[in-house]
Amino acid sequence: MTTQIAVIGLGYVGLPLATLFHKSGYDVIGIDIDSRKIDCLEKGTSYLSDYSDEEVKQLTASKRFRFSSEFKKIETAHAIILCVPTPLRNHQDPDLSYLESAAQAMLPHLRHGQLVVLESSTFPGTTEEVLVPLLEKSGLKVGVDLFLGYSPERIDPGNLDYELEDIAKVVSGVTEACLHEVQAIYGKAFTSLVPVDNTRVAEMTKILENTQRLINISFMNEMSQICHELNIDIWQVIDAASTKPYGFTAYYPGPGIGGHCIPVDPLYLKWKANEQKLSTPFIDLAKKVNDEQPMYVVDRLEKALGSGKKTPSVLLVGLTYKKDVNDVRESVSIPVMEELIKRGWTVDYHDPFVKDITLQGKTYKGIQYDQQSLSSYDAAVILTDHSQIDYSSLIKGSSLLFDTRNCIKGTYDHVIRL
Ligand SMILES: NC(=O)c1ccc[n+]([C@@H]2O[C@H](COP(=O)([O-])OP(=O)(O)OC[C@H]3O[C@@H](n4cnc5c(N)ncnc54)[C@H](O)[C@@H]3O)[C@@H](O)[C@H]2O)c1
Repeated sequence: MTTQIAVIGLGYVGLPLATLFHKSGYDVIGIDIDSRKIDCLEKGTSYLSDYSDEEVKQLTASKRFRFSSEFKKIETAHAIILCVPTPLRNHQDPDLSYLESAAQAMLPHLRHGQLVVLESSTFPGTTEEVLVPLLEKSGLKVGVDLFLGYSPERIDPGNLDYELEDIAKVVSGVTEACLHEVQAIYGKAFTSLVPVDNTRVAEMTKILENTQRLINISFMNEMSQICHELNIDIWQVIDAASTKPYGFTAYYPGPGIGGHCIPVDPLYLKWKANEQKLSTPFIDLAKKVNDEQPMYVVDRLEKALGSGKKTPSVLLVGLTYKKDVNDVRESVSIPVMEELIKRGWTVDYHDPFVKDITLQGKTYKGIQYDQQSLSSYDAAVILTDHSQIDYSSLIKGSSLLFDTRNCIKGTYDHVIRL
């Protein structure tokens, strides 16, 4: 009988992972509580930006792939992989409710010998301190009756340079036997596995990767503000510094870091560190700089427009948190748009991935633009550098173009950069 894998949570992480396991020859059962996702899969339409309808149709047409919203389906699975969201609560502390409710729903269906692997990003200790006691409510003992591991997801949506299977996969287990089971399953799907001693190391690896990014990009935002005041081109500085063959890694400034991971995961670590009475000054400062960056963009724009018009009109280009994805979670374009609206400006947006957006109860529809229609705006601001944006019209049609992503090459009098 073919080994069966259940993937719980078919989002940006779960669907590509389920696809990879399927490609590797496993029988795959995808489980999601979001009926819209299940509907899309039934209709053969994709809900992820870098996953085509054709790919969905191919996957769902396979006899080795099934999907459902019923947890009962995990009963026949050899391994169950958890890919549910791990956002923040209002007070910026970890919200493990999705993980807890998925684990709770699994309980009546768990059986002896199954492997459970958590892939969601979370604070070190989650697998041992939260999942073990939860799963053991089933009556099965972890390491004896049930195997449990953690493997951080490193997928980079929108980045087509790397195949998921070629991204080295960090794997861990609560016990030696658990790690052995994780390696047996993942080894068939991934080109290289990186086993580590325990689940805390694996959890911390993911948080370290993302915290390093938050801190370094925030630092570059600080550098770019200093460079602007000193009339120095930060982008040239970074390019020049990058020619050093060792000791320098390039990070780039921008309108702020958004998304479900980089601004969120470090706060999971902060929460855990604070619980141990440890402070996290680097994380705190990086968060502060990052939170302030959208307002810096707004202020720079206002300054560049001068005092001519009290309530200018502006076209924001790009609402998603990064290029070539359809994900607006934690996107810094949102606070930029909200602030401009608050200041009484007329704001339109263009984003090939976002049809409309509701802010404070009002729905805004994305617009198309051409060189001519751009002249009706006082300024355009590039917040996300999607590949399919018509940059040439933006350059030719805008009165003032603020490029926060350094995607306009060449020098133009009416183009300003961070
Ligand atoms: N998106 C990324 O680029 C990325 C990269 C690496 C790691 N991660 C981490 O992976 C995890 C998942 O992120 P994502 O971006 O795929 O989120 P997502 O919101 O795109 O997908 C999560 C899915 O889980 C489903 N879900 C929620 N609760 C459920 C439950 N109780 N039972 C079954 N399904 C449930 C949701 O309906 C959703 O479809 C998070 O911890 C995230 O931090 C994300």
